[in-house]
Amino acid sequence: MTLQGKTVIVTGAGGGMGKAAVALLLEEGANVVGCDLNTDLLDEFKGRTDFVEYNGNLLEEETVHQVFKETFERFGSIDGLANILGIAQSAASIEDCSLNDYRKIMDVNMTSIFLTCREAAKYMKKQQQGKIVNVGSVSTTRPRPGLQCYVASKGAVESFSKALALELAAYHINVNILHPGPSDTNMLGQFSADSVNVDDTKKEVFEKSVPLGRLLKPMDIAQSVKFLLSDETNMVTGAVLHVDGGRNI
Ligand SMILES: NC(=O)c1ccc[n+]([C@@H]2O[C@H](COP(=O)([O-])OP(=O)(O)OC[C@H]3O[C@@H](n4cnc5c(N)ncnc54)[C@H](O)[C@@H]3O)[C@@H](O)[C@H]2O)c1
Repeated sequence: MTLQGKTVIVTGAGGGMGKAAVALLLEEGANVVGCDLNTDLLDEFKGRTDFVEYNGNLLEEETVHQVFKETFERFGSIDGLANILGIAQSAASIEDCSLNDYRKIMDVNMTSIFLTCREAAKYMKKQQQGKIVNVGSVSTTRPRPGLQCYVASKGAVESFSKALALELAAYHINVNILHPGPSDTNMLGQFSADSVNVDDTKKEVFEKSVPLGRLLKPMDIAQSVKFLLSDETNMVTGAVLHVDGGRNI
């Protein structure tokens, strides 16, 4: 399995899973464009000819347009898009969720995917090939109380990706969904209600919910992102890959 010479845009590249994906894709020979609101974690890749960091908000149409345009100008193709960005919801009962909170979660977790996939389709259709991986969450099949907005946003990612897989199949563009289980990144602590101890919740709630017995590591997710971007999945589209140590069962 190799990604030699392929060009991949990674969103959420400055986060836990995103950074692991950037590192692995570079190791596999891909050119990588890493986009995030915060690119501090990507400093170690600076200066490489096969890496570009893009600091920006992927909810802005113009920013998304520029990321794809500049990627194409620099590397000559856009073979893959790994949509890893996202935000958590701090667990709260529905009466305590403001409309603003709801809209923000839907926007970051779903609108960003609409915008980036729409832009990717323009390039990939012309190339008659491309691979898109959209990251959802195991919570779409195993929701937890108090995460109703987050779960809805990730359910939308799954439905949208399946619809797009069908729409783009004629152009040899694959669109797949990767649902991570509880993973040891900054985000995991952000799912806890304000009143609880984050470290205890990680251990007692999240870790214990994984049949394989440990939290996912960012690299566990990155390996599957790489797989879904590779030629080994040329006939896989509209699929849901659970990378969750069995949590979805
Ligand atoms: N960590 C978990 O337990 C877990 C479980 C299931 C699913 N997920 C999903 O996996 C993905 C990655 O999660 P993570 O744990 O690496 O989280 P993380 O918080 O470490 O990374 C998410 C990144 O997305 C970026 N981002 C947010 N909004 C953005 C915007 N508008 N424009 C550009 N970048 C933006 C953030 O700056 C951050 O760096 C997310 O989609 C998350 O919902 C995480």
